[in-house]
Amino acid sequence: MEYNIEPTNRYLGIYKAKLRTAEEIAEYIEDDFVCACPTCMGEPKAIVHAIGERARRDEIRNVQHHSVISPGGGDYLDPELAGKYYHVSWFTSAASRAGVQEGRFDYMPAHYSQIPWLWREKVSKLDVFYATVSPMDKHGFFSFGLVAAETLAQLERAKYVFLEVNDQVPRVMGTHVVHISQVTAVCEASYPMPTLEELPLSENSKRMGAMIAEMIPNGATIQFGIGEVPNAVGKLLLEKKDLGIHTEMFTDSMVDLIEAGAVTNMKKNIDVGKTVAAFCWGSQRMYDFLDDNRSVELHGVDYVNDPYVIGKLDNFVSINAGLEIDLLGQVCSESIGSRNYSGTGGQLDFVRGSAISKGGKSFIAMNSTAKGGTISKIKPILTPGAAVTTTKNDIDNVVTEYGIARLRGKTAGQRAKALIEIAHPKFRDELLFEARKMNLMI
Ligand code: COA
Repeated sequence: MEYNIEPTNRYLGIYKAKLRTAEEIAEYIEDDFVCACPTCMGEPKAIVHAIGERARRDEIRNVQHHSVISPGGGDYLDPELAGKYYHVSWFTSAASRAGVQEGRFDYMPAHYSQIPWLWREKVSKLDVFYATVSPMDKHGFFSFGLVAAETLAQLERAKYVFLEVNDQVPRVMGTHVVHISQVTAVCEASYPMPTLEELPLSENSKRMGAMIAEMIPNGATIQFGIGEVPNAVGKLLLEKKDLGIHTEMFTDSMVDLIEAGAVTNMKKNIDVGKTVAAFCWGSQRMYDFLDDNRSVELHGVDYVNDPYVIGKLDNFVSINAGLEIDLLGQVCSESIGSRNYSGTGGQLDFVRGSAISKGGKSFIAMNSTAKGGTISKIKPILTPGAAVTTTKNDIDNVVTEYGIARLRGKTAGQRAKALIEIAHPKFRDELLFEARKMNLMI
């Protein structure tokens, strides 16, 4: 293991005394233990695998693995380990979706801003916090690298703290550090961080991205959510000036904006000169950019996603995606009918924060249709079982490839009309007919 900075002998001694193999750490696990790790890149692969092997040998039962986004490949996802070592998802990802939808895994409904509070005060117990970290510095601290988010709350609550020291974890600046004195045991491993493949943008996404980009003034502070349209907007802001970034997820397009000089963070009312995020997920190029980069800071989601913190930033613009919307403006972004698809994440946190921000606005973008154009995503009522992510009282701007419906401050009838105008033309008559039946068109 090579250290960026050679730790002093004092901390190296403590480190060596706490050094175990992943298999030795797995021996701490008992039946009914609740284990948790930070989202996605924070998962300690070697420890998780060693626990999986114990479950395979029938040595442990009913051990839960809690995390926000599962990066995939973890033993707790294995259907053969159901009831022995299994997942509880706090934001369903491609890797965990089948298990959640088939009822093998449970899931936690939550606003991301509240997840640290849930871990600190509401969840019944947390036995083990495990995470991957960058190598120890000379003061005895490890960085949680690409993830701050819920990390410190889990660390504070857990009975046992196990770290997997990985020399491929970039050292990203921020509050997300842990000291060797807080740790039960460490092991060492070396593997690259999971990356997110950038997919080509569809024509619809480019069109929606262009409409939104036009409404972002110079000096605005931006947040991009998950999905194609937020990515498309990022690519169209390269000519803007003095943008700021305050976002849950740091994305590749934000690296481009910083390198192009479009982002300076100098017009921010707080965190002046700094890009602020809760976690990062993207390409290896992004991870190299973040390593030891003092212009980017990660903080807990209880700070980054707090609507009152977001609201302190003038001209805040939030861009997220949705799966369907009804004629009142209730948005479902996390389920397909009653089948859980993803999670609430920080969507409502940022919609609410931008409503508090002076000059702020939020956008929820979606294609007008799904399933090869056979169904409209704008519906008279949501599909039975659909979870409401952004409520009718919070929604601001809705975007499809046919335009932008500005819903805030509009009556039910005005909303129905504005949404029908941006629905796919082939569904507009049917939507109008249903809206009349619902007495929405005065
Ligand atoms: N009915 C049925 N199926 C639908 C549908 C609908 N109304 N809308 C979408 N789908 C299907 C799509 O066809 C696609 O299926 P496929 O994977 O088989 O191609 C799938 O659902 C995903 O839809 P898509 O529009 O491609 O999703 P996306 O990758 O752009 O992500 C969200 C959109 C809404 C799922 C994602 O942004 C999300 O999870 N948001 C909630 C959390 C959030 O906003 N956080 C923000 C802070 S980071």
